[in-house]
Amino acid sequence: MSFEKEFISSEFPPIEGKVTWASPSNIALVKYWGKYGVQLPQNPSLSFTLSNCVTTTSVAFRPKTSEGFSFSFLFEGEEAPAFHPKMEAFFSRIVDYCPYLLTHELAIESSNSFPHSSGIASSASSMSALALALLSIEQQAGKLGHPEKFNQKASFLARLGSGSAARSIQGPMMSWGKTASISGSSQSFGTVIQENIHPVFTTYQDTILIIDKGQKKVSSTLGHQLMENHPYAAARFEQAHQHVQRLLAIMAEGNLDDFMELVELEALTLHALMMASNPYFVLMQPNTLAVLNKLWDFRRATKLPLCFTLDAGANVHLLYPEANKKAILSFIQTDLANYCQNGQYIEDQIGTGAKML
Ligand code: DP6
Repeated sequence: MSFEKEFISSEFPPIEGKVTWASPSNIALVKYWGKYGVQLPQNPSLSFTLSNCVTTTSVAFRPKTSEGFSFSFLFEGEEAPAFHPKMEAFFSRIVDYCPYLLTHELAIESSNSFPHSSGIASSASSMSALALALLSIEQQAGKLGHPEKFNQKASFLARLGSGSAARSIQGPMMSWGKTASISGSSQSFGTVIQENIHPVFTTYQDTILIIDKGQKKVSSTLGHQLMENHPYAAARFEQAHQHVQRLLAIMAEGNLDDFMELVELEALTLHALMMASNPYFVLMQPNTLAVLNKLWDFRRATKLPLCFTLDAGANVHLLYPEANKKAILSFIQTDLANYCQNGQYIEDQIGTGAKML
């Protein structure tokens, strides 16, 4: 692919230093579910970039002469050999675009702002933080082929670590996957939404209910595989294109009823696809369903614009405008928290993307 060639940095000097990035998680409104080739999405997806759920990663680098990759990894201050194979696989995938991985040794340290065992997917924040830190080495060496495309290459590298990580680089909203609805959209990297977004969405809240900390998530590898030969795959991929187009129009208008309907339909479609896969999975827990029913009752009774989305697990993301924060947080505290494991939930909101520290 010629586009990808321009991301390959030229002759690299031996340099030494340290870079640190904090990168957020994101929550998909239109879901990425199904991939092909090397991390290419079967359909376009659209997400809110989060603010408080962040991975901070620092990479200290210095020249080396030995062959192969050489790195150490501390997670939350402790040696974490369990992560090594995943990181090696990531390095192998990106080494053509980051040849300095072979000529420098890396001391990597990473920590999450959210509890490790909360069942919150951390691949988006962790892979984007790592991709940004590695790319900063290239920047420090003055070897970025296209400095104006820093975010693009960061997203491109992050995608090779985890698809959803492609959407964590910038904010407040990003898309990933080629779609006629978004000019400049690409299969290879995420793009920040430049389209008109109604102000109500730019301060949207996401409160994450921790329903089941040890939740059985379908691993992303298996999850995406389930879409291969899935009887509803073609219809789903087509639907996602339409949903991206519709959601952009809804978000420009600021129509909250339509927003809630589409976002909930996306969440339930993701779970319906898993329930109709072979093998099949039910990832909602009884408390997930209890929360959804409580939420719908609350919405009918109060007319407040509270809706939910889900990722591939039991936790529930509650989405609502900042203007309704007080009333909705009070409902969460007095009612929904009872369905959370140890009453635990995380308050987050839409954010502006990753930051170099
Ligand atoms: C349900 O990005 O975790 O959260 O590319 O295999 O790392 P890999 O998958 P991953 O899949 C995310 C699936 C999802 C929906 C979404 O974030 O769009």
